[in-house]
Amino acid sequence: MNKPVDFPVASFNDEDSNTSANATFDQVLSARLSRRGLLRGGLGGTATLMFGTLGTMSLAACGGGDDEPSTRVERLGFTPVAKAVADVLTVPAGYTATVMYALGDPLTAATPAFKNDGTDTDYDNRAGDHHDGMEYFGLSADGTRRDPAGVERGLLGMNHEALTDHFLHPSGSTARPRPATETDKEIPAHGVSIVEVRKTGSTFAYVRDSAYNRRVTPLTPLELSGPARGHAQMVTKYSATGVAARGTINNCGTGYTPWGTLLTGEENWAGYFTRSATDNTTRGGATAKSVVSLNRYGRAQGAASRHGWETSGVADKYARWNVTQTPGSTNAADDYRNELNTFGYMVEIDPYDKTAVIKKRTGLGRFAHESAAFGKPVEGKPLAVYMGDDSRGEYIYKWVSTALWSAADANAANRMAVGDKYLDAGKLYVAKYNSDGTGVWVELAVASIPGTYTAYAFADAADIAIHTRLAGDAVGATKMDRPEWCATQPISGEVYFTLTNNSNRKVEPSGSGQQGVDAANPRAYSDSFGGAAAGSPGNVNGHILRMAENGGEPAATAFRWDVYVFGAEAGADAGKINLSSLTADQDFSSPDGLWFSPTTGVGWIQTDDGSYTDVTNCMMLAAVPGTVGDGAKK
Ligand code: FEO
Ligand code: CA
Repeated sequence: MNKPVDFPVASFNDEDSNTSANATFDQVLSARLSRRGLLRGGLGGTATLMFGTLGTMSLAACGGGDDEPSTRVERLGFTPVAKAVADVLTVPAGYTATVMYALGDPLTAATPAFKNDGTDTDYDNRAGDHHDGMEYFGLSADGTRRDPAGVERGLLGMNHEALTDHFLHPSGSTARPRPATETDKEIPAHGVSIVEVRKTGSTFAYVRDSAYNRRVTPLTPLELSGPARGHAQMVTKYSATGVAARGTINNCGTGYTPWGTLLTGEENWAGYFTRSATDNTTRGGATAKSVVSLNRYGRAQGAASRHGWETSGVADKYARWNVTQTPGSTNAADDYRNELNTFGYMVEIDPYDKTAVIKKRTGLGRFAHESAAFGKPVEGKPLAVYMGDDSRGEYIYKWVSTALWSAADANAANRMAVGDKYLDAGKLYVAKYNSDGTGVWVELAVASIPGTYTAYAFADAADIAIHTRLAGDAVGATKMDRPEWCATQPISGEVYFTLTNNSNRKVEPSGSGQQGVDAANPRAYSDSFGGAAAGSPGNVNGHILRMAENGGEPAATAFRWDVYVFGAEAGADAGKINLSSLTADQDFSSPDGLWFSPTTGVGWIQTDDGSYTDVTNCMMLAAVPGTVGDGAKK
């Protein structure tokens, strides 16, 4: 293949559009660490304040001091895999790993086999690119119905987050204007797969001709639901009533609802759209509400689109990637000025029913969604859904349903109707962390926006749903270090968030005009990150945050928090960086994926190892969680 054409677009997670003066989590954490004075002294294993008990594949004897968790780790029964940088997937001795579903795999019997030479088409009926979050939905043995306990046969709901475009074309990608033939392959290579998988002997494989198989792409018709449905700001040339939209894109994390549907989070969607360099004036100037929002969501005027799909022709499916308002037009149905408002949501898909309408649940807010984690459902209590916004300095959110949980809904036949019940009516909250280990959920509603906030005039619930980040700014939410996945520990009910890193944090050594390290700012120190030169960015290893609702109540508006574990290299300074006393068989950098086994509660942490790639290049760690505060000095 020829060398690809690379378009000059910043990498997606470089977005940094939160200019609010809200406090950062780093500041809150530093104050807490300083107050507790815990960074000195013989902190071994489980005695570390912020450290519950972490086991990894390398842990036969983890940390010590707490028999029960150690025993549980030993019961996992595999030999740890050593850190390595080889470009292969290594699994423990006695286990095998096979490719089950790869880019281009056909999803119907009639779709030709994937040649993988750039000539393939029809990605509507093939696996998309960049597999990301996924959920497994059990089927009965005969495949005719949902069976949550089905472990031999099931459906995978699988995200296709992004695209390496040059691999899809015979001679790499063509520069702009992009040929429609290339764009027509690239668009449907994004989205979601629903694909049946089946176990034969000891091996799972996907079922090529399953009637369940389907692709959801950026062109799939769907509906908007919740507070923003039918709002004037959702009107586009595609839907003059603002109730419908097309497709989903940059799907990253997922969620599994208690009633058996898939939630898929739209993450770095803004980067696919372009906006003219003079669009601010057309929209009424820099303080016009739509301009304030577009800027806050990373689409300043003049922004280029990631793939240039809008250059492929005048047809509607290309024009929609340009969100410029038509000069002189006062009708939003004339163009795609509002198209960006139809992306950035949690999208619910019934994997078992191709005919069920897909819905964007606007009540859960609009931001760079990662995963969605339900709190433990309790009969007669509201459902809580936890979510993070994965861009630098963005926020952590909670949705609380108005409807009270009825266990009968877990097995309802009309699953999307259950989604309507719990995901369209409720309250959205944003998290504010205090340095004493407490925190509050601040409701995002017009009534809670302080009068002193003047950047955006919130008028109604749709304004909150569509411009959620601005509402978070207004109420003083805490800016986080890129929340990736969240997950609920099924035994304690506590919620964990991976905060992968923040390369914009303070730089050490000081002298570059940014604040250097001191006792109260331990995570700003960076001299001894392995392989990283002095002066490299601050919190590059990330950490895992843990939260416990007051009283264990899903609707609580106050919580307690601590840091479950700080990422670090084992050899890093124990007083400044390796705050969790990680050893060489359990150290890591940049946590991302997170999941807990439903019965044992053992945690599984996937790492990106962003600042440790000289030694390791992504790992899966097994971890035994405790509870908030259990690492306090004993
Ligand atoms: Fe797509 Fe936040 O990772
Ligand atoms: Ca991710």
